[in-house]
Amino acid sequence: MTSTYDTLLARLQLAFDVLESGADPVLRTSERSDYQANGVMSLAKRLGRPPREVAEEIMGHADLDGVATVEVAGPGFLNLTLIPAFLERQLAALLGDARLGIATAPEPKTVVIDYSAPNVAKEMHVGNLRSTVIGDALARSYRFAGHHVVARNHVGDWGTPFAMLIEHLLDLGDDDVSLSIGDLDAFYKEARVKFDSDDTFKERSRGRVVALQSGDAETLRLWRIIVDQSISYLDQVYQDLGVSLEIADVVGESYYNDMLENVVADLDAAGLLVESGGALCVFPPGFTNRDGEALPLIVQKSDEGFGYAASDLAAVRDRVDNLHADELLYVVGVPQAQHFEMVFAVARLAGWLPDRVRCEHVTFGNVLGTDRKMFKSRSGETVKLASLLGEAIERADEALKERNTDLDEPARMDLAVQIARAAIKYADLSTDRQHDYVFDLERMIAFEGDTGPYLQYAHARLRSIFRRLGETWAPSSLTFALEVDQERHLALGLLAFPEAFEAALAHLQPHRLCVYLFDLAQRLTAFYDACPVLSSEGALREQRLALCDLAARTLSVGLSVLGIDAPEKM
Ligand code: ARG
Repeated sequence: MTSTYDTLLARLQLAFDVLESGADPVLRTSERSDYQANGVMSLAKRLGRPPREVAEEIMGHADLDGVATVEVAGPGFLNLTLIPAFLERQLAALLGDARLGIATAPEPKTVVIDYSAPNVAKEMHVGNLRSTVIGDALARSYRFAGHHVVARNHVGDWGTPFAMLIEHLLDLGDDDVSLSIGDLDAFYKEARVKFDSDDTFKERSRGRVVALQSGDAETLRLWRIIVDQSISYLDQVYQDLGVSLEIADVVGESYYNDMLENVVADLDAAGLLVESGGALCVFPPGFTNRDGEALPLIVQKSDEGFGYAASDLAAVRDRVDNLHADELLYVVGVPQAQHFEMVFAVARLAGWLPDRVRCEHVTFGNVLGTDRKMFKSRSGETVKLASLLGEAIERADEALKERNTDLDEPARMDLAVQIARAAIKYADLSTDRQHDYVFDLERMIAFEGDTGPYLQYAHARLRSIFRRLGETWAPSSLTFALEVDQERHLALGLLAFPEAFEAALAHLQPHRLCVYLFDLAQRLTAFYDACPVLSSEGALREQRLALCDLAARTLSVGLSVLGIDAPEKM
């Protein structure tokens, strides 16, 4: 089906086009009327005419079938109110649509999303949270929209630190790996201590770097052991978090190693490579330091080792040429902004990144503690994701015990896990990703307020209505008569789902979907207060059940594209 929003927008577009083609109206669902259109003001500016006059003229040209009233508000907004029959017809169409009005992309794209990307051989910590959660929400949203998503978990699995870890593994023995490596962080720290305090160990590590880079078989065997151990651990964390990354998506820095020589050779052939202080660099135009000096992107270091930028350049080529990407997204923290700008610029210069490929660094802010400083444990260490989740599960379980649910122990545990993940993910996703947010488990896990568990509860409450109904309810072709304000208000909320979903995707901002879902949950609360469901009768009851069914499905789909479970009972 075409959403109400799209229908109205298309009509407005036609009317705008009469005045000037290329002028874009912007439509929003709004509190005061049903929809508010924006865009008149910028059009009026370009035409050099008073906005209100332009607005009147647009309305004269618009097909207003289904629109009850239109008012020119403020300096030139158009407030549209719909005829009930139009709204009711749209709602009836929605009922039969499993996708709730969200269209499937007519031309599916291949979207490569680079996310999570921890440095392996260390445990995942809070610094890996946002990329993992935001990236996963984007991947799920793109998939739901009908695109082909290729997830790339660009883990740090190569370079000097691994030489050190290999030497440490040799000291401990590699017969029983789980015994030697067991606790990844401890393994890493022990190696680090030896590296810093023991000169012969340091020497051995240096030699090992060379062996690793030249592809020595025994060195690679030992390296593989460490990496495999880390990846199976990573996989466990993703499963515990309910993140859709798979082992096959792990394509880390090491994968690009064989391509790096070609990167250098081809940059050289293109005349882009400059030697600077012994290193091979590209100076993309437009990048300067504070003193106005040109900034280099270092491709090969003076010790002949390749830099972080080299593997990212190889990755761009691989993703464009071999994966046939139409979009490249990098969900990586804002401190790497300049790195990516320079990599993209160099890839463009080299002809590896055609203009038709959308390429974006999807940045995000920090996770802060309740003291508003970087989130740390009480002892000042970075907090592991596994322990964050563990604590959240414990709290969720306590909250469930207090609520005295009739769940048995395993079912309660299951639910606690779902609630805990929802709390953590929703808190992350519901803030504009560019902003920092405070990690406050107490607030995040509350069943009230703008939280994941609250939305899960809103969904479960709807499902419980259908359980109490006792019989299976299937949406039939209904005619709606939305006579009560709260019903109408809820209906408008339901019809706005495609708009919110598409805005979140277009701007790569999952929080827009969160804002929508929270608003929908509030419309539901108002609806329950004013409109009894099960105790109403006949056609009214059917219609209210249909609203509940739509709301439950909307919450369930909305949460699932965010990577959040929608349990049936809570
Ligand atoms: N492993 C890197 C880090 O922890 C992030 C990698 C991001 N992705 C990329 N293609 N560079 O900082």
